[in-house]
Amino acid sequence: MSILTNPLDLLVQNLFFELPGLVDRGRVVLKMEGYNVTGSIKIKPALFMIAELERRGLIEPHRSTIIESSSGNLGIALALICSLRGYAFICVTDPNVSAVNLRSIEAYGGRTIIVDSKDANGGYLETRITCIRDLLRDNSDYVWLNQYANEFNARAHEEWTALEILDEIPEVSHLYVGSGTTGTVMGLARRFAELSPDTMVVAVEPEGSVTFDPNRKGRRLIPGIGTSRRPELADPELLDRIVYVPEIDAIRMCHRLARRQGLLLGGSTGSVLAAIAADAAFFDADSTVVAISPDLGDKYMDTIYSPDWVRSSYGTGATMPDDGQAPLPCEPLKEIVARHSREVTIIANRCREVASYRRDQAKQQQTGT
Ligand SMILES: Cc1ncc(COP(=O)(O)O)c(C=O)c1O
Repeated sequence: MSILTNPLDLLVQNLFFELPGLVDRGRVVLKMEGYNVTGSIKIKPALFMIAELERRGLIEPHRSTIIESSSGNLGIALALICSLRGYAFICVTDPNVSAVNLRSIEAYGGRTIIVDSKDANGGYLETRITCIRDLLRDNSDYVWLNQYANEFNARAHEEWTALEILDEIPEVSHLYVGSGTTGTVMGLARRFAELSPDTMVVAVEPEGSVTFDPNRKGRRLIPGIGTSRRPELADPELLDRIVYVPEIDAIRMCHRLARRQGLLLGGSTGSVLAAIAADAAFFDADSTVVAISPDLGDKYMDTIYSPDWVRSSYGTGATMPDDGQAPLPCEPLKEIVARHSREVTIIANRCREVASYRRDQAKQQQTGT
């Protein structure tokens, strides 16, 4: 790993994690995106969308203000990029935003506006959009990214994420992707149609989301995945299958992953893995199932990982304090230490040689030889 100077180079491109035991036949591999700077996959579409505005000369540092509706990962990613590039950033959000997300946006220097009147659908999305439109009308230097309709949201995944997967795993039989704006799944579907047409591309939706079916409207509490209005980017023609996951299955999967596999992941990762577990009968011994993990669990301590929140949101039977399953066996720790020590020993020997060379040089200089 080289020494970085720009936080935007902190993009972890090739981190994959295999999950044994989730399905009876085939391999399941997670592409981990939560270790990117700002903690999620959203840094990539944020970069693509702002870079395109810069390329077209539509924004100018220290003059333009970027405005976007987000209650989560995109808002945090935009706040960082805008502060580094000298744009002001306003994130329009609603009372459901978590304290940690709000504080993260503000910590990077973004401004937040919390709308508090509900729209005709009983949510806040339309109120947020109205707020943005009002601000755009009154401020000529404001620019709205509109992630739900912005082609460069999907392009980030078509041009980066898809190739990162195919570079590491050329034979992907099934690709499972959670959908929010649908930028990730649409971008991946387009590139896989070109380079890996036999891969079955599956969009994972929480029950209650209307992205691909307006009749499914219902209560949803897990952020990041699902919508209450169809995103302009969504094109079901590019998908092989859409799986609907009950939120409680996603939450149980998150708890199971933390206890059994030592992975503390976000709710959309739980949804995608719950969809894979439900589809297990479709896979055979040769299947390689890849899933996207957009973020880690640390952002969800007050929701998904809070027994009180789970109980009050889904009922008393919903929490699983202990499902009786032991964590997967782990090799003795001395072997892990030894594995890393072997690498470090080589470095130590190299450092000793350099130190001894420098000592000899210094001695020669002192004695004038
Ligand atoms: C937590 C989370 N889940 C799912 C997704 C996928 O969303 P989208 O369809 O907007 O690309 C994202 C964002 O990329 C996310 O941050």
